[in-house]
Amino acid sequence: MAGTKVGIIGCGNISGIYLQNLTKTFHNIQLVACADMIAERAEAKAAEHGIRAMSVEAMLADPEISIVVNLTIPKAHASVTLQALDAGKHVYLEKPFAIRREDGLAMLAKAREKGLRIGCAPDTFLGGGIQTCRKLLDDGWVGKPVGATAFMTCHGHEGWHPDPEFYYEVGGGPMFDMGPYYLTALVNLLGPVASAAGHADVTFPTRTITSAKKFGKIVPVEVPTHITGLLRFADGQSATVMTSFDVWHSQLPRIELYGSEGTMIVPDPNTFGGPVLLRRMGQEDWSAMPLSHGHADNSRGIGVADMARGIAAGTPHRADMTLAYHVLDVMHAIHDAARGECTVKLASSCSRPEALPIVDLYAANASFK
Ligand SMILES: NC(=O)c1ccc[n+]([C@@H]2O[C@H](COP(=O)([O-])OP(=O)(O)OC[C@H]3O[C@@H](n4cnc5c(N)ncnc54)[C@H](O)[C@@H]3O)[C@@H](O)[C@H]2O)c1
Repeated sequence: MAGTKVGIIGCGNISGIYLQNLTKTFHNIQLVACADMIAERAEAKAAEHGIRAMSVEAMLADPEISIVVNLTIPKAHASVTLQALDAGKHVYLEKPFAIRREDGLAMLAKAREKGLRIGCAPDTFLGGGIQTCRKLLDDGWVGKPVGATAFMTCHGHEGWHPDPEFYYEVGGGPMFDMGPYYLTALVNLLGPVASAAGHADVTFPTRTITSAKKFGKIVPVEVPTHITGLLRFADGQSATVMTSFDVWHSQLPRIELYGSEGTMIVPDPNTFGGPVLLRRMGQEDWSAMPLSHGHADNSRGIGVADMARGIAAGTPHRADMTLAYHVLDVMHAIHDAARGECTVKLASSCSRPEALPIVDLYAANASFK
């Protein structure tokens, strides 16, 4: 199989779907190796997927590998990304882009200095659900956008994740963990954010792990776990964004988009599919809209394929570092505004990523132009 050669660093929980999709789903990339600071993890995944297990150093020194996919934990995102850029690799990494703004800015500067690309998750906004929403919005089905609401509520990840400590350390919390899905979806629909206000609270000072491996372990909570943000977009719309690990139950929607001529219910931005619901002014009920785009199943890694296409064609990729840094900046701005009880103007901005065409760029025999 031909295609840009890719190596994964970080063989933990999320790596399974990347290993599966990067070996089987996208025809312009070829996953050849994986690495982890715990060598046995890389060896097990490599054996399962028929690729090579390597040390991080060996992967970075391998001239065959052009793109490193960084699936390490958030506090290692910046250091592993900078190391890979220094080794001349393009990098695609999991969200959040970095923990501190300084690290994010250093990553942007290094990529520009080296003439290399950084792409960043989430790539769920390239799935069939949210691309359908984008097309409906751009085609005028809800009229002029007025504003949006976005809600992510749950009671944390300590009930299922085998190593959930990082969710409660600096760089974790519901905004840095889940906010990227919601904010990336909103920026894809409404464009960049101009200012943010918000409140951020720690409801429970400790968490008790109830997943099997570390059952009963008590984890201190270092970050706010209930955050409500208020955003003003550069084009004038407003949005309320709530992310919480402190809510047992709720009936809130994920994202609603309000327009001058109707309302659209955007599907869960942590998934690739629908449903997309639309109700235009005067209509008595919601309509489930057919999806205009493919990749409605779990297509994690489509952002890597899109970056490889962009590198080969010399055109921008969609899950771009300026978008990811802007989302990081928005998350910090909400927390800064909460601490200062003020409104924070965003120093960063980005372009709305180009919508995907209806034709599937990543199907077998696609030309990737
Ligand atoms: N778990 C999920 O469902 C999920 C979903 C979407 C995104 N993510 C994101 O994916 C990333 C990884 O999450 P996870 O749940 O797979 O974490 P994890 O702890 O299960 O796995 C991380 C892996 O990275 C390795 N690692 C850490 N630092 C390293 C370094 N410096 N060099 C080499 N290897 C290193 C660890 O040994 C571990 O195997 C995080 O950024 C997270 O936000 C996770």
